[in-house]
Amino acid sequence: MYEERVVSGMRPTGALHLGHYHGALKNWVKLQSEHPCLFFVADWHALTTHYETPEVIEENVWDMVIDWLAAGIDPAQATLFIQSRVAEHAELHTLLSMVTPLGWLERVPTYKDQQEKLADRDLSTYGFLGYPLLQAADVLIYRAKYVPVGEDQVPHIELIREIARRFNHIYGREPGFEDKAKAAVKKLGSRKAKVYVQLRTRYQEQGDAEALTTARALLEEQGNLSVGDRERLFGYLEGEGRVILVEPEVLLTEASKLPGLDGQKMSKSYNNTISLREDAESVRKKIRTMQTDPARVKRSDPGDPDKCPVWQFHLVYSDDKVRQWADKGCRSAGIGCLECKQPVIDAVLAGQAPMRERAQKYLDDPTLAKNIIADGCEKARKLATETMREVREAMGLAYT
Ligand code: TRP
Ligand code: SF4
Repeated sequence: MYEERVVSGMRPTGALHLGHYHGALKNWVKLQSEHPCLFFVADWHALTTHYETPEVIEENVWDMVIDWLAAGIDPAQATLFIQSRVAEHAELHTLLSMVTPLGWLERVPTYKDQQEKLADRDLSTYGFLGYPLLQAADVLIYRAKYVPVGEDQVPHIELIREIARRFNHIYGREPGFEDKAKAAVKKLGSRKAKVYVQLRTRYQEQGDAEALTTARALLEEQGNLSVGDRERLFGYLEGEGRVILVEPEVLLTEASKLPGLDGQKMSKSYNNTISLREDAESVRKKIRTMQTDPARVKRSDPGDPDKCPVWQFHLVYSDDKVRQWADKGCRSAGIGCLECKQPVIDAVLAGQAPMRERAQKYLDDPTLAKNIIADGCEKARKLATETMREVREAMGLAYT
């Protein structure tokens, strides 16, 4: 079965916090019941920026896996693994590097941006330039259809699509393609073959995009095709070569609406975070001492929620009733800031309670998470191996 796979990764460079939860993890939890999902710890990607402090990565890998499980990622639904333990990603990265023009990498906006932003590190390395190409390998190796990422990653996915297109253009051409494709059409059986040909004609002659989508869905349901024939039939719909690597689409993740404790973006480097499983006492203390509207110096001074980061927390965590109470109480100085913060504290703690609970069994027995990852790596490797067989063959490496 050809499935609409989802792939995403996260760099293990620090403890996950509520910004990660509302920004990415919550979305992963939703996706895992809708698609076959592969989620991995991008430890090689972390090394591109942290090559001088590998201990940071080592410390964070297992914590991150436990954070995922705590957040509700379910290993019975999604495949969880560690990038560096599926070495095929590195092999595909090397092979893709052969056909990747340097300029494509140099022009990726994050390349210069991050170099400037992380000016205290020397990022004039080959690995850092190759960051998005390694990401391309992560995605293409699973023939993923969707990649859930934030806005900042969109140029990377765009690059991945271009690489896939270029790869298919160079290596999808084979002698006698048309004849082979026609033979593959016959193998669909007469009824489906007829539908396939009609849809292909509608797409090619009238540019009917819906016909293309329907035809692809028909192929996706077709269980008994060989990989080569499937690639031919996908390619034959649009052009004159096989589709060896699948162009993925971005599944844009909305940015987290939860700011940090100081109203800036929640980020480890601003020291304004609440970690995913932070202990209750510390959460209470952090929110109690959190900044509010600076105009409320005295309890009797009215405030403006729009100038207060606590209000942003209400927008994420409170229902209408509580919000109205806070808004009114703030503007009229009817409530004090500590009073206003209490329902936020309660809601944050209530959100974290099941996470802390789920994490406990993994903390008590570290072999549980290790086994989940070992299983996930094995599953991922199996899928990766299938693609690599095709890629090696296409690139002339399948000789005996
Ligand atoms: N670059 C991504 C980030 O910083 C992490 C990542 C690595 C990734 N490989 C990936 C995301 C593959 C999606 C798919 O967020
Ligand atoms: Fe912020 Fe609430 Fe205080 Fe108003 S009352 S300033 S919204 S914490």
